[in-house]
Amino acid sequence: MKLSRVSVVLVWVVAVLFQSTVYGDPHQPQQVHLSFGDDPTKMIVVWNTPEPTPNASVEYGQLSSASRYANATMTKFVDGGSLHHVQYIYRAIMTGLVPGTKYYYRCGSKYGKSQVFSFSAMRNGTDWSPRILLFGDLGVLNGRSLPRIKNDVTKNHYDAIFHVGDFAYDLQSANGTVGDMFMNLMEPIAANFSYMTCPGNHEYAYNFSNYRNRFSMPGDEYGEKMFYSFNIGPAHIISFSSEYYYFLQFGSIQMFNQYYWLMEDLEEASRPENRRQRPWIITMAHRPMYCSNSDSDDCTRRESLIRTGIPFFHILGLEKLFNSYGVDLMIWAHEHSYERLWPLYDRKVYNGTKSRMTTRRLQSTSSQAQRAVMRTWTHSCRNRQTGQLSVPMNTATPGC
Ligand SMILES: *[C@@H]1O[C@H](CO)[C@@H](O)[C@H](O)[C@H]1NC(C)=O
Ligand SMILES: *[C@@H]1O[C@H](CO)[C@@H](O)[C@H](O)[C@H]1NC(C)=O
Ligand SMILES: *[C@@H]1O[C@H](CO)[C@@H](O)[C@H](O)[C@H]1NC(C)=O
Ligand SMILES: *[C@@H]1O[C@H](CO)[C@@H](O)[C@H](O)[C@H]1NC(C)=O
Ligand SMILES: *[C@@H]1O[C@H](CO)[C@@H](O)[C@H](O)[C@H]1NC(C)=O
Ligand SMILES: *[C@@H]1O[C@H](CO)[C@@H](O)[C@H](O)[C@H]1NC(C)=O
Ligand SMILES: *[C@@H]1O[C@H](CO)[C@@H](O)[C@H](O)[C@H]1NC(C)=O
Ligand SMILES: [Fe+2]
Repeated sequence: MKLSRVSVVLVWVVAVLFQSTVYGDPHQPQQVHLSFGDDPTKMIVVWNTPEPTPNASVEYGQLSSASRYANATMTKFVDGGSLHHVQYIYRAIMTGLVPGTKYYYRCGSKYGKSQVFSFSAMRNGTDWSPRILLFGDLGVLNGRSLPRIKNDVTKNHYDAIFHVGDFAYDLQSANGTVGDMFMNLMEPIAANFSYMTCPGNHEYAYNFSNYRNRFSMPGDEYGEKMFYSFNIGPAHIISFSSEYYYFLQFGSIQMFNQYYWLMEDLEEASRPENRRQRPWIITMAHRPMYCSNSDSDDCTRRESLIRTGIPFFHILGLEKLFNSYGVDLMIWAHEHSYERLWPLYDRKVYNGTKSRMTTRRLQSTSSQAQRAVMRTWTHSCRNRQTGQLSVPMNTATPGC
């Protein structure tokens, strides 16, 4: 116990020194990180400053001579803690990139600029195998994987980094300063590689406001939705929020919105001309459907919310939906253990991938599929009127 307290203090001191020496100037960009844009010609860069710096931009180009500029939008972000920690968050989209080409960039304003970082714009086309560095549940304290991740990215070329929820422990801790510290620790990695994320349970504070403000993902640049998808090589990647199912105090409508969006996105990705090009559909979200751990997490239950959906109503379950569209791979985190499962559906193992386990693909347009769900929901409401069931959500739900 004593030992762990000592190491906690040491890490804290080191981190504070690191912050005050490197990031002393409040106009200096910090926490720089990248994510993919809507297509391989775009890249999103996000950074923060403690003090506002108007007219900030990113300058970028091949070789070290910057030849292009993109203006940034600046938003004031106030952490929800009692100190109301303020910082300014900048988002800029680098456009007109030549796919597969190395770029250099630096961001900031006339009041202070970042160092020069670099990245490779995503390769175009589908005939290549993306290399992705995957992890979840990484914090400032006990962030044991961080040195290995740093070492690994300098040796191997990765096309992207996926952080599958739970950041910093926590982004909002110590009035948001732990989040700042974490994003600065990640900067050497996340400023040179696309850092693609999804929210975890640890981001829930103030309705996920630290998560939503600090990250910009393709199609969700201002973190309004917490779900998005993008294509990389032969894969279509869908990132979504498992947390909508667990934090109903923030409302349930977002769960429905996400479900409808998932349906539309899967429908589009599985149109024959798209699936031919990108046969892989891969999902990522924080809390798994299944696990064999012996903690009391939801995945240890027979019917996890994320798998079978809302109890009694049997709606919004994702296993059925994903299976009906032949999702190939689901990536999860949260359990702090490595686990890889046989092909699995409804608790039954389908050994080997030669016999196709996909039962039936929905032969419907998304609006038909949507109606199917609306019908299920209407039915559920009728049940509710009999007074037999209690509903674990608020009343702002469609059809009720
Ligand atoms: C920002 O740019 C605008 C338009 O060029 C200019 O009028 C304004 O003075 C600039 N603000 C600062 C603080 O540099
Ligand atoms: C970027 O901002 C500057 C002012 O700082 C302005 O003069 C310029 O037109 C802007 N560029 C674009 C593309 O909006
Ligand atoms: C990031 O890119 C810059 C510019 O190429 C380089 O100096 C730096 O070493 C890179 N960092 C890592 C961790 O690869
Ligand atoms: C990417 O590839 C597609 C299909 O081959 C092509 O239509 C498109 O122009 C390419 N885009 C770029 C920026 O090279
Ligand atoms: C914010 O700081 C105040 C004063 O130090 C402290 O009491 C409070 O617990 C902090 N809140 C968070 C969420 O860190
Ligand atoms: C929480 O955020 C979601 C968007 O992710 C929004 O739909 C919902 O209304 C918010 N809830 C509250 C209570 O502010
Ligand atoms: C699946 O197949 C492998 C290889 O044939 C075998 O070792 C394993 O025991 C099988 N698992 C199940 C659950 O059938
Ligand atoms: Fe978690």
